Amino acid sequence: MNDSQLTSLLNKMTLHEKVGQLVQLATPFFKGASDQGQITGPMQDMGIGHDDIENTGSVLGASGAKETINIQKKHMEDHRLGLPLLFMSDIVHGFRTIFPVPLAIGCSWDLELAEKSASLAAKEAAVSGVHVTFAPMVDLSREPRWGRVMEATGEDTCLNSAFARSFVRGFQGDLQQDAYKVASCVKHFAAYGAPEGGRDYNTVDMSEWMLRESYLPAYKAALDEGCEMVMTAFNILNGIPSTGNKKLMRDLLRDEWNFDGVLISDWGAVKELIPHGVAENEKESAQKALEAGVDIEMMTSCYFKHVGSLVEEARLEESMIDEAVLRILRLKNKLGLFENPFREANEADEETFILAPEHRKAARELAAKSVVMLKNEEALPLQKNKKAALIGPFAANTDILGPWSWGGSAEDTVTLYTGMKQHLNADDLLVAKGSGIETGTEQQLREALQTASEAEVIVVGLGEHSDMSGEAGSRADIRLPEIQLELLKQLKSLGKPVIAVLFNGRPLDVRDIVHHADAVLEAWYPGTEGGNAIADILFGDVNPSGKLSMSFPFSVGQVPIYYNQFNTGRPKDAPDAQIRFVSQYLDIPNEALFPFGYGLSYNTYHYSNISLSTEQITPAEKLTVHVDVKNTGSMAGEEIVQLYIRDLVGEVVRPLKELKDFTKITLQPGEAKTVEFTITESQLRYYHPDLDYKSDPGEFEVFVGPNSRDVQARKFKLVNA
Ligand code: GLC
Repeated sequence: MNDSQLTSLLNKMTLHEKVGQLVQLATPFFKGASDQGQITGPMQDMGIGHDDIENTGSVLGASGAKETINIQKKHMEDHRLGLPLLFMSDIVHGFRTIFPVPLAIGCSWDLELAEKSASLAAKEAAVSGVHVTFAPMVDLSREPRWGRVMEATGEDTCLNSAFARSFVRGFQGDLQQDAYKVASCVKHFAAYGAPEGGRDYNTVDMSEWMLRESYLPAYKAALDEGCEMVMTAFNILNGIPSTGNKKLMRDLLRDEWNFDGVLISDWGAVKELIPHGVAENEKESAQKALEAGVDIEMMTSCYFKHVGSLVEEARLEESMIDEAVLRILRLKNKLGLFENPFREANEADEETFILAPEHRKAARELAAKSVVMLKNEEALPLQKNKKAALIGPFAANTDILGPWSWGGSAEDTVTLYTGMKQHLNADDLLVAKGSGIETGTEQQLREALQTASEAEVIVVGLGEHSDMSGEAGSRADIRLPEIQLELLKQLKSLGKPVIAVLFNGRPLDVRDIVHHADAVLEAWYPGTEGGNAIADILFGDVNPSGKLSMSFPFSVGQVPIYYNQFNTGRPKDAPDAQIRFVSQYLDIPNEALFPFGYGLSYNTYHYSNISLSTEQITPAEKLTVHVDVKNTGSMAGEEIVQLYIRDLVGEVVRPLKELKDFTKITLQPGEAKTVEFTITESQLRYYHPDLDYKSDPGEFEVFVGPNSRDVQARKFKLVNA
């Protein structure tokens, strides 16, 4: 349908029918749902009637070709105008084939594989009847205490923006041309990743300058890639809840960024304007959210109950309702739902595509590239003829899919034990739990030590269970539970090589782990093929190449800690720095334990001959940077070469360094390559005090290296034409 046909459809609708399009309910409300009628908890007092449900515009959480076709059929039979539902679900890092959590994918620095993971997830979801995914989540975060750091790709604006574009391309592609795609919905707008104290849903307060410089670009990148929807964040931003924030939603998102897609609230966030204290009741919540431009209310009933009277009392213009409904009808139209309301839901295709070998293979490859080797003192790779003991709560644990993996299943998941079994003779792999995640018994410990004592090398699987991470999963203490650290210490006392494999959703305080283990692999929540991917690295079939996309603090006392900090007026490492009166802690270092961009390989890579094509450029010119990188190891491997820039003097303070580009190269043993980067004036721009986004003439430093710390620097100038 064209716009005028959509408008004439809109004009046929009653006000109640229009309001129905502005509401999203979970599957239990709908006829034909497998969990129909299981209205429990807060859902019971939503006061939703049958005539409301018959007019509802979208459904949250349904999947499965049979179920979604069933629900759609029954809904359209009941709807006076036969309007189809939109089916929306959280497919963040996989649908049935679960890929590593996005923070892990961020550590792969592999944009192509990230895009592929989203594309495969979209294919599995589309044939299961899903139309929209609530992804990518691009909330930049410098807060490892926050449970949802696992859901985005880390602390850096440039890297997060690049992944945002890749994920949107993978999920959504060209909705009207490409098969097996779903509309994407970037979230959570905005700055949800900066809650005070790292406590989920907590206050976010920052300058417009910091917001625009660091936190907003990844959302914008997703929208520039064509992302169809935006989801509001739970948090307040500078005193106003995002979901009722006209400045953020209308002025910035819609007017400045020209976003005319669908804006959906997060679950219950419209009604939460009441506890936030900016709305007296649900009626005022409905008014404020609509005035802020929120098209769809997710899982509360303020719109159903009050929009009619708000319009009748002239507190809301019906034209505002029409605008919101038209955006939703346009999305349904773009998805082809008026011609084919079942879209690509197809049971035979589900059989073909879900957990297909190609999907598992991609999941295994991406999981291996997402693993970051933090330490290796000649303990890895393992030899296939040596007896190994596999110990710990994650030795054979299927809880390695991570949060937002509701479509995945334990029986499809490859554990570390299953993965390692592929590489060793049966009697060369001994296994014992050793402890639970947070508790353990003396007997478990004894059995573990006994088992380990019979082996030549010990692999210990440690970590957080997945509900210690994710939404509402904030932790003030970011170490592993004491019982696990004690297990590690006792295993080390046996005097054999100990390799720690970590399964977790946040940067941890890993000091004790690094102290006791001879090698440490950060495996995150690696997904369905996690056990195979980690075993591929343990036994050297894959050379680790992952690099941290989020700093690992020395301790939680440093948080928020991130590589692109400002120098302060009293930098601790200045040549003339005083002993005491500098920016420092008395009890811990300033630096992260492991910095952004850090990761080891079985090789070493030698960087040399960094050179610039010129020492100054005008705004119209480009500067190229060359660096030679040599693989001085004995294995082929991939190296992520990083380019950072520092603006030495600005009208506002400028970070000590900022990632501006990166590339991943493959090098055979002994092979060297010259890597080239291009720097343009646009990469030198920043937000000035008046929020004007531009560059200044002046001196810059360019840094190239394997991470944000071990870099080589050169200088250049930007001069006026
Ligand atoms: C949750 C999350 C959001 C998700 C939504 C629907 O509360 O904050 O990311 O998309 O509800 O499940």
